[in-house]
Amino acid sequence: MNLPPAITLIEVGPRDGLQNEREIVPVEGKVAFVEALADAGLREIEVSSFVSPKWVPQLSDAAEVFARLKPRPDVAYSALVPNMKGLERALACGVRRIAVFTAATEGFCRRNINMTVDGSLDVFRPVVAEAKKQGVFVRGYVSVVFGCPYEGAVDPAKAVAVAHRLADLGCDELSLGDTIGVAVPAGVEAVLSLLKFPVAQTAMHFHDTRGTALANAFQAAIMGCSRFDASAGGFGGCPYAPGAAGNVATEDLVYAFEGCGSKTGVDLHRLAAASRLAGVALRKEPPGRMYRALKSATC
Ligand code: HMG
Ligand code: MG
Repeated sequence: MNLPPAITLIEVGPRDGLQNEREIVPVEGKVAFVEALADAGLREIEVSSFVSPKWVPQLSDAAEVFARLKPRPDVAYSALVPNMKGLERALACGVRRIAVFTAATEGFCRRNINMTVDGSLDVFRPVVAEAKKQGVFVRGYVSVVFGCPYEGAVDPAKAVAVAHRLADLGCDELSLGDTIGVAVPAGVEAVLSLLKFPVAQTAMHFHDTRGTALANAFQAAIMGCSRFDASAGGFGGCPYAPGAAGNVATEDLVYAFEGCGSKTGVDLHRLAAASRLAGVALRKEPPGRMYRALKSATC
C-alpha cells in the first residue's frame, strides 16, 4: 500500500477522552494515565485544557496535572487554550505547545466557545502572536469540518476556508476535526484536495461515531497525511457535540497502520495497559475495538 512509512499518533485521550466523561478523574489518575501513555511510546500527548472550569469542569485541574507531570525530553505535552487567559495559565505552568480551536460553522462555534467564527479568530490572533513570540508551538483546530450537529452537512470549501484563516494567524499545525464522526473517505478526499497547507503539518482528528474513522484515516494517509489524533481506549467526545463518540481508538490505528507496514513507535500492549488505567479511573470499560480484542484471549 502507498502509505507513509511512519505515522505520528497524537494522543488526545487525557483531554478529548476525559473532557466528556461524567466521572471526574482525580489529578493523580490523570498523571498516571499520561505517564502510562508516554511509557507506551506516544511522543505527543494533549494533556488537558486551560478553558473555563464552568464550561468543562472535568479538566479544571489542568495546572495541577502539569505541575505533577515529570518532564520528559522525548515527549511533547500540549494543552487547549481558548483565549488569552488560557494562554497565560498555560505559560505559567511551563506549557510549550498549545492549541487554539474554532469551527467550520457558526452554530458549533457559538455553542463550544461562545464566539462567532470571526470573533474566535480575533481572539486567537494575539494569543498565537504571543505564543509564537515565546517560542511556543501552536496547533489550530477546526471542528465540524465534515458535519455539524447544529447545521448539518458542511461544504468542504467552507471548512477549508476556516482552516486557511487559522493557518494565516501563524499556526504551526492544523488539526481538522470530524467532531461528530460523520465523515466518509470521499469527504476526506474532498477536504484534503482543497487544502493549501502542508500535509506534513496537518493532523486529522476523527471521532468514530459511525465506525468510519479508520477508513477515513487510511484515506488521509494515502493522500500523504502522517499525523493522526487518537484517544487511548476510544474514550471521549465533545460536551458540545451531544451523542458523538470518542476519537478513533489509538489501539485501532496502531494495529491497522503497523499491520500495513507504517511504523507508529507505540507498544500496543503497554497502550492497552494505559487505557485500562483510564477505564478503572472512569469506572467504564474502554470502548475501543482493538482494546476489546486484546482483552479477549481468543481474538
Ligand atoms: P464565556 O462564558 O463566553 O466567557 O466563555 P467569559 O469571558 O464571559 O468567561 C466566563 C468565565 O470563565 C469568567 O469567570 C472568566 O474569567 C472565566 P467568572 O468571571 O464568571 O468567574 N474564563 C476562564 N477561566 C479559566 N480559563 C480560561 C477562561 N476564560 C474565561 N481560559 C470560553 C468563553 C471560551 C472561556 C468558554 O466557552 C470555554 O471555556 N469553552 C471551552 C469549551 C471546550 O473546552 N470544549 C471542548 C474542547 S473543543 C473539542 O472538543 C473539539 C476538538 O476535540 C476537535 C474536534 O473534535 O472537532 C478540539
Ligand atoms: Mg475532538
